[in-house]
Amino acid sequence: MKKIGLFYGPLGGSTERVAKKVAAALGNENVDLIPIKESKASDVEKYENVIFGMSTIGKETWDADKPANDWDLFLPELEKIDYSNKVIAMFGLGDQVTYDLHFVDALGLVAEEILPKGAKIVGTVSTDGYDFRESEALYDGKFIGLPVNEDFEPELTDERVNNWVETLKKELK
Ligand SMILES: Cc1cc2nc3c(=O)[nH]c(=O)nc-3n(C[C@H](O)[C@H](O)[C@H](O)COP(=O)(O)O)c2cc1C
Repeated sequence: MKKIGLFYGPLGGSTERVAKKVAAALGNENVDLIPIKESKASDVEKYENVIFGMSTIGKETWDADKPANDWDLFLPELEKIDYSNKVIAMFGLGDQVTYDLHFVDALGLVAEEILPKGAKIVGTVSTDGYDFRESEALYDGKFIGLPVNEDFEPELTDERVNNWVETLKKELK
């Protein structure tokens, strides 16, 4: 497998913890863990295998004019990336107990930016086992990336990550 660039944010919380779990499951030697807030499009372009990790902190905040989080700052870079010859996988931290109408929406917002640019997204996930009402992360009835709920379902995280990584090993370059 070619080297994977795992770009993630925010730092210091659940997203970072899960990013490290994903890297360990893939083999740390195969993965560069890179904070998204320090990154530009050119950093992502160095990799043919890319993983984006993010959390959802509410659509209102995400849409605000003022950059509010690490991914807000990076969003303008997404459209500059050349997605040809690249595969992208995504995971998203969220909480479908408290935010059952906006579960892991950030995954959908990023997908909405990169799919029209020709991005090939792998690692989509069945909704089985997730009890939620609405999510912008659904494409053709599946999550466009791996949802993880560290707030209410932390005991499921390792199994979710490991199952997902097994499919990624077949789908990454
Ligand atoms: C203010 C706030 C708003 C949130 N909004 C959402 C949301 O709309 N959808 C969702 O799935 N999770 C939402 N969450 C849950 C977070 O995504 C979850 O706590 C996540 O693990 C945080 O990751 P982090 O520690 O890396 O920031 C929200 C959390 C907070 C504190």
